[in-house]
Amino acid sequence: MTNIAIMASGNGSNFQAIIDAYNEKKLEVDKIILITNKKNCFAIKRAQQNNIKNYNFFLKDYPSKEEYEKDILKVLKEENIDYVILAGYMTMISNTLLSHYERKIINTHPSLLPSFKGKDAIQDALDYKVYLAGFTIHYVNIEMDAGEIIFQKEVRVYKDDTHDTLQKRIQEQEHIYYWQIINKVIKGEKI
Ligand code: GAR
Repeated sequence: MTNIAIMASGNGSNFQAIIDAYNEKKLEVDKIILITNKKNCFAIKRAQQNNIKNYNFFLKDYPSKEEYEKDILKVLKEENIDYVILAGYMTMISNTLLSHYERKIINTHPSLLPSFKGKDAIQDALDYKVYLAGFTIHYVNIEMDAGEIIFQKEVRVYKDDTHDTLQKRIQEQEHIYYWQIINKVIKGEKI
């Protein structure tokens, strides 16, 4: 029995790809819950449309990130969550969560790490005029976008690419691979 929590802050297209794989019984988990930290983000709609429980926590309602994450941790424990999957969750995870979920928090980042860490990875890749962009699935540790790499996939950058066109091609690949890698990690399979 494996339960996962998706943490998202935005559109949730990766969350949707995970939901689809779960509904098609390709992603072998027993339960998915959603945790968000942005009011009215589209990920919440996706959870509601798919009967997935969603919880919202707003950092500004707490005196510190520690208190904020303690409340998140309470839900993770109550829901018996084994793995935490970050899918466009745009806030650093701190030790409060990490210490309870060591090597159990996974993120996808839209660059070939260690290049272009941070929140503007796609624009940074365009500005640098790289030929290859892509995404990296990695374990989360205390440093930003620096945990052990699990999987990477390259995406060609074209001369006429804009932020939107490159993001779209990277996300198409994330949607194909993210749930498959999650499946393998959970099952302890070689990647
Ligand atoms: C994804 O492309 C993911 O790689 C990126 O946010 C996007 C979320 O899209 N994550 C980061 O930049 C983390 N540093 P989505 O909300 O449509 O899944």
